[in-house]
Amino acid sequence: MGLSPAQVTKYCRFGFVVLENFAEASACDRLRERAEEMVSAFDPAVVSVFSTQEQSHLRDDYFLGSGDKIRFFFEEDAFLPDGKLKQTKERSINKIGHALHELDPVFSEFSKTPALRQLVADLGIEDPLLVQSMYIFKQPKIGGEVTCHQDSAFLYTDPIDIAGLWFALEDATTENGCLWAIPGGQKEGLKSRWRRVSGGGMAFEVFDPTPFPEERLIPLEVSQGTLIVLHGLLPHKSLANRSPKSRHAYTLHAVGGNSRYPEDNWLQRPAEMPFRGFD
Ligand code: FE2
Repeated sequence: MGLSPAQVTKYCRFGFVVLENFAEASACDRLRERAEEMVSAFDPAVVSVFSTQEQSHLRDDYFLGSGDKIRFFFEEDAFLPDGKLKQTKERSINKIGHALHELDPVFSEFSKTPALRQLVADLGIEDPLLVQSMYIFKQPKIGGEVTCHQDSAFLYTDPIDIAGLWFALEDATTENGCLWAIPGGQKEGLKSRWRRVSGGGMAFEVFDPTPFPEERLIPLEVSQGTLIVLHGLLPHKSLANRSPKSRHAYTLHAVGGNSRYPEDNWLQRPAEMPFRGFD
């Protein structure tokens, strides 16, 4: 259980560590089944076109209000010009977020395990709080690109004290849109922060306008059950999926409970539903 000293060293050096066979195939399949049930019960009339590339969600209350809910976000290419879905809703969903781990028993059981608690402790994150969970579909043919970013830009803490846990629920390859990351890129500082601005909406505060050195990206091709642990400052991305295979993943973000979590981060919780840890 937990991380070996060599794995912690790798994480500190490269900004990520790949843990093969972390989750049982049956546990991955259970999450996939549960996500399928949720989508099937969801009424797509309540939709929001979500596109990371165009940041079209910037002023989207549906997105900004999803920190304490389970909400459904669609692929940008999922819609016809008249607003109707091109394919079934099951093949049109981009992701579900952002409090699956709190509100759904199946996701909660997967997320709040002694193994993950130990792993996060081994990263040096004290009194962790699980702030965000997402089920990402990366649909066949229409799964959109997620451009190069740092998770700390969206879930900022002072000091930077966050890890992303990315679970491959299916094999992820360069064909179906696996993660790409810049090894060691976490040492080069935070480039920007996405903040709530007074009067509503969001804006990027830019600290370093130079582009990410994307020529240094390497693909992280992994099989089902692999957990990739990502430092909050690690630049990473995933390409569009034009293949006939989906690439389902589940992600969870843990922040240190003693670090400041600003009120102008996009993801907020109401007073009656504060962030919780692995309890
Ligand atoms: Fe990310």
